[in-house]
Amino acid sequence: MRKVLLLPVVLLILMLSSCSSPKGQPEVITLKQIGQQLELLDENTIKVQAEEPLTARGEKRVVPRTINKDGSLAVVPAGDWTSGFYPGVLWYMYELTGEEEWKDKAIKYTAILEEQMYNGSNHDVGFRMFCSYGNALRLTGDESHIPVLEQSAKTLIARYYENVGCIRSWDFNQERWQCPVIIDNMMNLELLFWAFEQTGDQVYYDIAFAHALTTLNNHFRPDNSSVHVVDYDTITGDVRQKNTHQGYADGSSWARGQAWGLYGYTMTYRLTDHINFLKQAEKIAGFLLEHPNMPDDLVPYWDFDAPGIPDEPRDVSAAAIMASALYELCSYSENGAYYKEKADKIMESLGTTYASAPGENYGFILGHSVGAKPFESEVDVPMNYADYYFLEAISRKEKLDNNSYY
Ligand code: GLY
Repeated sequence: MRKVLLLPVVLLILMLSSCSSPKGQPEVITLKQIGQQLELLDENTIKVQAEEPLTARGEKRVVPRTINKDGSLAVVPAGDWTSGFYPGVLWYMYELTGEEEWKDKAIKYTAILEEQMYNGSNHDVGFRMFCSYGNALRLTGDESHIPVLEQSAKTLIARYYENVGCIRSWDFNQERWQCPVIIDNMMNLELLFWAFEQTGDQVYYDIAFAHALTTLNNHFRPDNSSVHVVDYDTITGDVRQKNTHQGYADGSSWARGQAWGLYGYTMTYRLTDHINFLKQAEKIAGFLLEHPNMPDDLVPYWDFDAPGIPDEPRDVSAAAIMASALYELCSYSENGAYYKEKADKIMESLGTTYASAPGENYGFILGHSVGAKPFESEVDVPMNYADYYFLEAISRKEKLDNNSYY
């Protein structure tokens, strides 16, 4: 169990200021300012919980996700796919500052998700539980979290289709898809590799490995971009169709999907040592970093093929996921220095141009993410997962710069 890093705040401020932009440019957001933002987010969330406790469907509002179209703070139920990111943000703040206040809040919001260990309505149990309970276990060593994570892994593998070699992502749109698998699903494998390490039960490893291999074979195009949704025949395991859901078109490259792939294959390489997964991560990094439509500040448009580029919204969440992934990839790859430099550049952009001004955005750290542009849903707004991967990237960068990363 890795111990909590009780790092002096001053060290982190120095770390962040090492990314600071040239004179005359805005300064990079400091850890102190991030803390102030998150205090505000906590207050605003508690207000919504008190004043508007239930959603239209009668579910309890618990976790801040984004800002609604009407300008109000969106506080979502525990079953929302993003519910694990807020507790995860609080855990990273505890890791980065060592302050008990963040730990207390993190414990509170993690506990709210306990019942989600049985929520097998989609693949997102991995996101919900590993970002919350996974970080709780990592940072506290509290063994009461182990059965919750084990049950979450059991829930996830119940969605595995042997004939396909993949975990089914979604159950909606059944008139269109039989077994839709989205590139995002790579992110859920970390929970399964953890379950294998914890229990010794090979089934978790085998399912995670098979999913990564099947995805590698079917999701990627010759230019190393990935399709968003691959739909499989549940009987034959054949690919039925390749589509998008949140991207511009079936044949386009949805930015967050590319970032999920980069992170997913980097993490899967760490947990399997399988060289093809490392190679895939490097290929994805190449696609992203060398793409002609990648802006100089390395914060991508929401889709690399969006028709109105350069007048299209950026997706900060994709950039934050990329930065965190590149900080891991640089430890494994011969191109490490290049990936590190690019990750540092992304962090500089996020921490300056895309960071909320003090008191802005209800306290979310970053603005300017895109949830689902084809539905005009959550366009150019903060998203809790952008904040999560931004903080994870700060933590990874800090460890990397001190030679203590992993
Ligand atoms: N996993 C859902 C999304 O990235 O929007």
